[in-house]
Parts: sequence; C-alpha cells; structure tokens
Amino acid sequence: MTILVTGAAGFLGNQTVKRLVALGRPARALVRKRAKAALRLANVAEQIEIVEGDVTRPESLAPAMRDVSAVIHTVAIAMEKGGQTYDSVNYRGTVNVLDAARSAGVRRFINMSQNGASSRLPYRFLASKGRAQDYVAASDMDWTALRPSAIFGPQDEFFNTFARLLKITPLVFPLIGGGKAEFQPVSVYDVVEAVIRCLDDDCTIGAELALGGPEVLALGEIERRIIRALNTRRLLAPVPVALLRPAVILMQALLPGSPVSTSLLDLLAVANTVPDNALVSRFGMEPIAFAGEHIRYLNDNSLGDTLAKFFRNATVN
Ligand SMILES: NC(=O)c1ccc[n+]([C@@H]2O[C@H](COP(=O)([O-])OP(=O)(O)OC[C@H]3O[C@@H](n4cnc5c(N)ncnc54)[C@H](OP(=O)(O)O)[C@@H]3O)[C@@H](O)[C@H]2O)c1
Repeated sequence: MTILVTGAAGFLGNQTVKRLVALGRPARALVRKRAKAALRLANVAEQIEIVEGDVTRPESLAPAMRDVSAVIHTVAIAMEKGGQTYDSVNYRGTVNVLDAARSAGVRRFINMSQNGASSRLPYRFLASKGRAQDYVAASDMDWTALRPSAIFGPQDEFFNTFARLLKITPLVFPLIGGGKAEFQPVSVYDVVEAVIRCLDDDCTIGAELALGGPEVLALGEIERRIIRALNTRRLLAPVPVALLRPAVILMQALLPGSPVSTSLLDLLAVANTVPDNALVSRFGMEPIAFAGEHIRYLNDNSLGDTLAKFFRNATVN
C-alpha cells in the first residue's frame, strides 16, 4: 500500500519522499503547486505519484487517500500570508487531513509537530501546532508525533536566511537579541530517518518524540558557524529584539518573500532545546552536528538567488 506524504514539495516533505523511494516504498506526494513539485521532486517523479491538494479544502484531499496505508503529514506554515493563516493551515489543515485519512480507512498517521508546540502558549504559531497535535492525539488513529528543534539541511529556511542576509550585509551583522536564544539544530536527514523508523515501529504509536541535534547552540554561536561556513568575516553587533521589530514589520510589508515575521521574532523568547532527544534515547542514533561539511550547503546561496527569494518569493533550491 501507498504512503502519502503531505507538503511533499516542502523542505522536509521532499526529503521524506526521496528516502521512501530510495527504500523502494510506494509513495504518493500531496503538493499545493505542481511547479514547485516539478523542481523539488524532479529526480524521483517517475517513481512516485504526485497529486494536487490543499489542506484548507477538505474536498481536495479524498482522492489522495485512496489505498493509503500511512500518512506522513508535514504541511504547515511558519509565516502567515494571504488567506493562509496559522489557524486555517496548521490547525484546521491538520484536522482536514486527519479526517480525510480516517474516512478513507487509513490507521497510521505520523504528525510533524514542533518542539515547544502547545495549545496553551500565547505564541500563535506554536499554539496552532499544539492545537493540531491535540486533535491528532485525541483521535482513534495510530498516531505518532515528532517534535524537532530547528531543522537544517539544503532548502531549509531558517539557517539559509542567515546565509542570504549575510550575503547582502557587508562588515557588520546583527547579533540578534544578543545571540542568547538557544537551539538544538537537527539535520533533516536525521528527522527523515526518525519518520521512517516510526513507520516501521508500532511501539512509537501514541508517542510524542522530541528530536534534536547533538549540541545545544546559542544563536550567537549559530551565526558564527554560518559565517565560517561562508568563508567570510563580520563584526557581530548585539541588537535587542525590540529594536529589530520595526525593521521586521517593514520587511513583512514590503518583501513578498520576507525572511522573517514578528510572530517568528517572538519565538526567540522560547528555548528551542530538547532535553530528552528521541534520536538518541529511543532510536540509538548519533545525530549529525550543525558543523563542518554538514553545513557547507549554506554557501550555495548566490546573490541572484537571495534577491529572487526576498523580492519574488521564488523557490531557489
Ligand atoms: N523547518 C524547521 O526547522 C522545522 C522545525 C520543526 C518542525 N517543523 C515542521 O516540519 C514540517 C515541515 O516543515 P518544512 O520546513 O518542510 O516547511 P516547508 O518547506 O514550508 O513545507 C511545507 C509545505 O506545506 C505546503 N503547504 C502550505 N500550505 C498548504 C496548503 N494549504 N495545502 C497543502 N500544502 C500546503 C507548502 O507548499 P507551498 O510551498 O506551495 O507553499 C510546503 O511545500 C512542518 O509541519 C513544520 O512545522 C519544521
């Protein structure tokens, strides 16, 4: 039977589909835009089924669920744009996908949640992801939830955004919030491996598993490692988050592909670390470090790509 991956043209989604193909597992890719899927899934397009669907339109989801044995649900938005809101995509979208799966008789549901997600938090993004997971957990599906810290790898938004901003910022770069916010960056390849292990291990049913890399890194250290990966130098100047807020509001208003939003800026107040890392404690893996050859991809951002991303919101990798 087929495994359905939602958000399959996304960063995590396309890597998941590619791993399923490499393992010889039948995969169906649910995508919102065929053009993006054509770019991101080109080298596996012959081996998979690609179907269009929008999680905010329940009627578009039923055809994707035919003969499916498991759903890997990765759709979510980190920034609200147009009609796409945290509530409509992250929460209701998950409700729609789970309901469509359930109606089609699918039992297995792997939900890509988020470290720190909780319906009780005042941060709208984390609350929407928390409400989505509350709905999944209250269902009678055979669900597993994964809760990664910030994910790095080719096509990531978070770390590539720093690399792109560095390309267009000479000499001095802001040490955001003094660089104190903590993360535990986890490789996309480790997250995909965790997804596959969950698919094959019924003992993970009903579990919420936090995923992180091998190190807790302050944002300042992350910025320094990105600067080193780009073989460049910058003077890092501490800038309080409150001072950055007006610039972010302006970027959000003016740039179609604004790399940051005020609701994401708020998240710097929440530690994104993983005290019980399931990659280690559950799966016995040695997570990949945010260092050296593993972050060399950050150097692939050309100036043209950077401008296309910020000014046209183009898919550049
Ligand atoms: N990246 C991280 O650091 C990170 C960390 C922890 C957890 N996660 C979770 O991991 C999951 C995947 O994240 P990601 O970084 O891979 O995000 P991503 O690259 O933005 O992928 C999300 C995908 O969802 C699709 N999508 C958006 N709205 C949709 C809709 N209405 N209907 C159907 N598809 C829609 C997007 O399609 P378009 O491209 O066409 O908009 C995109 O392909 C998310 O659930 C996220 O919360 C990510």
